[in-house]
Amino acid sequence: AVERTLSIIKPDAVAKNVIGQIYTRFEDAGLRIVASRMLRLSDAVAGGFYAEHSERGFFPDLIAFMTSGPVVIQVLEGENAIAKNRELMGATNPKDADEGTIRADFAESIDANAVHGSDSPASAEREIAYFFATSDVCSRA
Ligand code: CMP
Repeated sequence: AVERTLSIIKPDAVAKNVIGQIYTRFEDAGLRIVASRMLRLSDAVAGGFYAEHSERGFFPDLIAFMTSGPVVIQVLEGENAIAKNRELMGATNPKDADEGTIRADFAESIDANAVHGSDSPASAEREIAYFFATSDVCSRA
């Protein structure tokens, strides 16, 4: 089925100037960018986005990292978009990421891991609504 997923290019990848290379991977895999914005996350916005991790030991480092510089946030649309984006990203820890994945090629550590992608249809719906109004999403499905 055609799905939508929320993707974030994290501050490490923006700093490395690889936004275009990452967008090309999405497009080459048949995913369409149907909404996009660049912004700096505040502590409150990053904390709300990652609320499910708020009790985890890594949460303070995660928020510090995600607010350390601009991010690029997009909605990707396409057949099986949620799983497809997760395949393109590779494992959360770049040390475990398969060769040729975004994290294997561009990420340094489990925090500075280049990209985020929704992990389920329910998270995709919540995460897209967190950053985009319905009218901001230019669906082509
Ligand atoms: P992301 O997909 O953005 O979701 C939460 C982020 O927390 C994750 O990517 C990692 O960058 C970061 N993180 C740091 N430590 C861990 C951990 N032990 N397990 C999962 N995520 C972690």
